[in-house]
Amino acid sequence: MTVHFIGAGPGAPDLITLRGRDLIAACPVCLYAGSLVPAALLAHCPPGARIVNTAPLSLDQIIAEMQAAHDAGHDVARLHSGDLSVWSAMGEQIRRLRALAIPFDVTPGVPSFAAAAAALQAELTLPGLAQSVVLTRTPGRASSMPEGETLAAFAATGATLAIHLSIHALDHVVADLTPHYGPDCPVAVVWRASWPDQRVIRATLATIRAQGIDRTALILVGPALAAEGFNDSRLYAADYDRRYRPVGDAPRFPE
Ligand SMILES: C[S@@+](CC[C@H](N)C(=O)[O-])C[C@H]1O[C@@H](n2cnc3c(N)ncnc32)[C@H](O)[C@@H]1O
Repeated sequence: MTVHFIGAGPGAPDLITLRGRDLIAACPVCLYAGSLVPAALLAHCPPGARIVNTAPLSLDQIIAEMQAAHDAGHDVARLHSGDLSVWSAMGEQIRRLRALAIPFDVTPGVPSFAAAAAALQAELTLPGLAQSVVLTRTPGRASSMPEGETLAAFAATGATLAIHLSIHALDHVVADLTPHYGPDCPVAVVWRASWPDQRVIRATLATIRAQGIDRTALILVGPALAAEGFNDSRLYAADYDRRYRPVGDAPRFPE
């Protein structure tokens, strides 16, 4: 018996991995983390599966579900939105499972920042503009931020920021970032990336408004969001000598 943690992806039901889909189909128990997991994914569960929305459950109740499945010898598909490596609450679950000696494994999913970048048709790391992406958030009712992880500290690097769980605090985000990026820096808000009702707002730090959006949105900020004003990468430059495309009389990697 194994608890399979599965990244369910950002919303579109076909943005799950084949492995994740096949695990759902093979498990007689499915625990899914509320409305951000698309209902269509539950259609992959086998007939008669026990399907539980864990949004109203406490951690103790979720672990009790896993323990009951373990006792019955039933594999569990545990679905969380996006990928499991960020803001999934997987960490506290696997700590309990280790203590209970209940086996588990992890199948990654498409994270929401990647779906948002796809909606924007944007590369977040453009030569000469940004070579780092910071996945971050602002403090919430249930979560404080560790000292040092401030928006201002990340903004000082000039990296592309993908700010989660913060659309309700858009005004604070703009106030913190404007001194570093300047008022003309491009910003995008992507609401429910990859869902049928996805919305995209493009603006600058000076002009961005939430337009009634208050949940399930990402704020992306940084110069890389501008489609122009960057250099081509060296990778595909005609004069760039590389292993797979030797150039010149004395290539560095002769065939
Ligand atoms: C609890 S976190 C889950 C993050 C998830 N594990 C991931 O890989 O992206 C929820 C936050 O992720 C962002 N988010 C999740 N799905 C989204 C989507 N489809 N479009 C835009 N933002 C999304 C929002 O900022 C939301 O407040």
